[in-house]
Amino acid sequence: MVEITRDVVIVGAGAAGLTAANELRKAGLSVAVLEARDRVGGRLWTDVIDGAMLEIGGQWVSPDQDALIDTVAELGLETFSRYREGDNVYVGPDGVAHRFTGEMFPVSPETERVIAEVTERLDRMVSEIDPDRPWEHPDAAEWDAITWDAWLREQTDDDEAVRNLAFATGSAMLTKPTHTFSLLQSLLMAASAGSYSNLVDADFILDKRVVGGLQQVPLLLAERLGDDVHLNQPVRTIEWGDGGVTATTDDLTVRARFAILAHAPVLYNRISFVPALPRRQHQLHQHLSMGFVIKVHAVYETPFWRDKGLSGTAFSPYELSHEAYDNSNHGDERGTLVGFVSDANADGVFELSADERKERILESLSHYYGEEAKNPIVYYESDWGSEEWTRGAYAASFDMGGLHRYGPDLRAAVGPIHFACSDMAGAGYQHVDGAIRMGRLAAASIVEASRS
Ligand code: FDA
Repeated sequence: MVEITRDVVIVGAGAAGLTAANELRKAGLSVAVLEARDRVGGRLWTDVIDGAMLEIGGQWVSPDQDALIDTVAELGLETFSRYREGDNVYVGPDGVAHRFTGEMFPVSPETERVIAEVTERLDRMVSEIDPDRPWEHPDAAEWDAITWDAWLREQTDDDEAVRNLAFATGSAMLTKPTHTFSLLQSLLMAASAGSYSNLVDADFILDKRVVGGLQQVPLLLAERLGDDVHLNQPVRTIEWGDGGVTATTDDLTVRARFAILAHAPVLYNRISFVPALPRRQHQLHQHLSMGFVIKVHAVYETPFWRDKGLSGTAFSPYELSHEAYDNSNHGDERGTLVGFVSDANADGVFELSADERKERILESLSHYYGEEAKNPIVYYESDWGSEEWTRGAYAASFDMGGLHRYGPDLRAAVGPIHFACSDMAGAGYQHVDGAIRMGRLAAASIVEASRS
């Protein structure tokens, strides 16, 4: 057992933990980052599968994500825009692929009117919410007591409008069935991107990618920390008290004045705390759970859909893959499509054999792009549900009523233990931008505490 002493021990080498570590170093504090996996990045993972570079985890950057944009620029990384020339595709209840341009799906004039009206209502509600403190809104308790689905169905009985409004925060973001989370949770998701309209605007929310892959952010941040990042070190125990913390892995003991738990809150219970965490934390952590989505990568000899005048952007609340995009790499002649299969649909296809699942998913993509979509040269499914040190995708959110009841304590430090993760962010919630913001915040509060 090797023993080391540092000012701060950080559990998790994702974007949040590595940002915190670099900020603390800048402030003159010493750090040790303990990472369970054999790589850094957590939910950021760029890998080469069968000769194709794939973004297995997070990849997109949107224009409001200042913290991520600054970090990308500061690390000297370049970005490129998602391909978006040509027509988008929408598959409606008739099962037919309809081409469209602009933001509104090609639905009937009446459905379009309803979608526009409810969107305006949602934008108004979102504008009243502080994403860092959604529970402070005067109607927060009421909004946390009604499901997102039930609230939408109170606004209209137009099923197609409800499905299209619902999936922006449902299948596409929180990746949970829309009857399992509240209106307030949905409003937080939208407020974290500035407005509901921003969130549903694919050109905004899925704007740019990093040339060479987004995992370079954590890789470069870790490079700056050198030997202070320790891989293959799952933290098993944290002893804590007035004198500081002792974090123990299978072969390392780190004594420090402070700790930052920089990973998904659903994994706090993998660590034995001595003494136990307070009652409040025991309770609140049980009300958070990960969403679940399969990110599907299909690589083709060429981006064949572009020859048909298609942008690659496709949506349907009726399809197995509810959204799909042109995800071709910068400077690559091959074409890559990325599709998403969310929550209950994801559960369903994991009941099938791998071959049947692939066939079903490619069949769904073919409804948007034509028969050619069925024959990729590389096919891969990102399954974060099977990853022991993540357990879902994209991130964690509260169950019904949980955000109002427990949200105010989510980020609160417990003695020398601080918390940082994208899953507790306001702006950039469930995104890399939020992870960086939370890493900075935890570091700043430790720097302040260390001076007092
Ligand atoms: P993260 O989970 O990345 O890091 C935590 C680290 O802690 C992990 O490396 C884990 O191994 C480690 N750990 C856990 N327990 C430990 C223990 N006991 N001991 C030691 N280490 C431990 N975002 C975005 O901005 N744009 C996008 O396009 C997408 N798309 C997307 C797709 C997919 C498929 C996923 C899964 C996620 C996204 N996201 C995204 C979300 C984004 O990737 C995510 O919000 C952040 O990367 C989370 O960063 P954190 O550092 O907060 O946690």
